[in-house]
Amino acid sequence: MVPDRPALVLLVDDDPASLKLLSEALAGQPLTLAVAVDGEMALRQIRREAPDLVLLDAMMPGMDGFEVCRRLKADPATRDVPVLFMTVLADPTSRVRGLELGAVDYVTKPFVREELVARVRTHLSIRAAAGALSAAVSALSEKNEELARARASLEIEVARRTEELRAANQRLERELELNRAAELRVQKAQNELAHLNRVSAMSELAASIAHELSQPLAAILSNAQAADRLLAQTPPDIVDARAALSDIAADDRRAGMIIQRMRAMLRKGELSVAALDLGEIVREVTRLVASAALLAGTTVRIELAPGLPCVRGDGVQLQQVLLNLLVNALDAVSRRPPEARLVVVRTRPADAGHVELSVADSGEGIPQADLERIFEPFFTSKTHGLGVGLAISRSIVEAHGGRLWAECGPGEGATFRCALPAWNEDTLPAE
Ligand SMILES: Nc1ncnc2c1ncn2[C@@H]1O[C@H](COP(=O)(O)OP(=O)(O)OP(=O)(O)O)[C@@H](O)[C@H]1O
Ligand SMILES: [Mg+2]
Repeated sequence: MVPDRPALVLLVDDDPASLKLLSEALAGQPLTLAVAVDGEMALRQIRREAPDLVLLDAMMPGMDGFEVCRRLKADPATRDVPVLFMTVLADPTSRVRGLELGAVDYVTKPFVREELVARVRTHLSIRAAAGALSAAVSALSEKNEELARARASLEIEVARRTEELRAANQRLERELELNRAAELRVQKAQNELAHLNRVSAMSELAASIAHELSQPLAAILSNAQAADRLLAQTPPDIVDARAALSDIAADDRRAGMIIQRMRAMLRKGELSVAALDLGEIVREVTRLVASAALLAGTTVRIELAPGLPCVRGDGVQLQQVLLNLLVNALDAVSRRPPEARLVVVRTRPADAGHVELSVADSGEGIPQADLERIFEPFFTSKTHGLGVGLAISRSIVEAHGGRLWAECGPGEGATFRCALPAWNEDTLPAE
């Protein structure tokens, strides 16, 4: 049904009087009437313009109403045109036959005007509703198709993006893999450099350590000779010989300790993390440099704060830091007159759960402009220096969660301070 135009109703009857009656009955209704006087004419008209309702006389000469209805229903183009049969036949068989052929309803002749009008209106409004419904359905199915299309293109887009993401992820993983490998190489190179730095710091002490070793060795020799003499006497002096032997054992242990300390510093070891007593680290390292200091005429003073908490870290690495600072300090004071050669190693509590280790010297100091630069790798003012001692020391301290910096007032020697986080779980008893 075309909207906004009156409904088109086709009256099909071979009897002009009947057509006249029908037209009169339907006059005044909002509809357009068309007429056909036989079956052939009706079919032609319906095919030309489909009406909204056909009032079809069942009994006509030639092609009767039933045949017209059959043909209408057989043709997909006209199948939906509603047919209302008109029949004089009061027998139910004809009515049933019409309905079976697909008619929507029937009226019997002679008609009651009101009934006819009511039936026509009812079927027209059903037709109108059906038209609106099918328009809505087709609009809906169009929307559905649009949605399906949108969905399909969305799925394609999602698949494309997923693929892109997967590829990006793979690239990222490969990069990460390469980065990890590069990081491992850097780490290895750093370990090598740190080891090189320890070896070079130790090599500065080599002469004095050899000298230090020669003392117990000489004592061992003279005690061995004494024991030999004491035992050769008659009667042999067993008591003094035993005393000489126990001195020999003590000197041997001392020499062993010196070698053990050197070995620890020269070892290429794995990291091992433990609770460390800073005081103990100070004592170990100052023992290592003691004879070097003695030979150079430098006083090394130790001031340990009592009851300091432990720090957490690798003992050899933290010893390496202090060794670097001490070797630098001994170097710095060596250009001063003998009475002015002093190095002070201190430990003390620092702010916010830190402990501080410092090395102060009476050397020529450091220009203000160099206080940071000296920590750069390969910065050195020494002919035989590598310039890595401070750089490595700082990276070790930072890996321990701490900070290492230098201070120097005008006309003063240098002070290096190292703040390390205290390990609260394990506070050492007061010394
Ligand atoms: N206590 C100090 N007093 C004055 N200058 C210092 C002191 N400690 C370090 N410096 C300066 O900082 C520089 C860098 O020190 P660093 O320990 O990194 O290297 P280096 O001692 O020159 O060589 P190495 O790698 O053998 O230790 C030194 O060359 C020196 O100029
Ligand atoms: Mg150095």
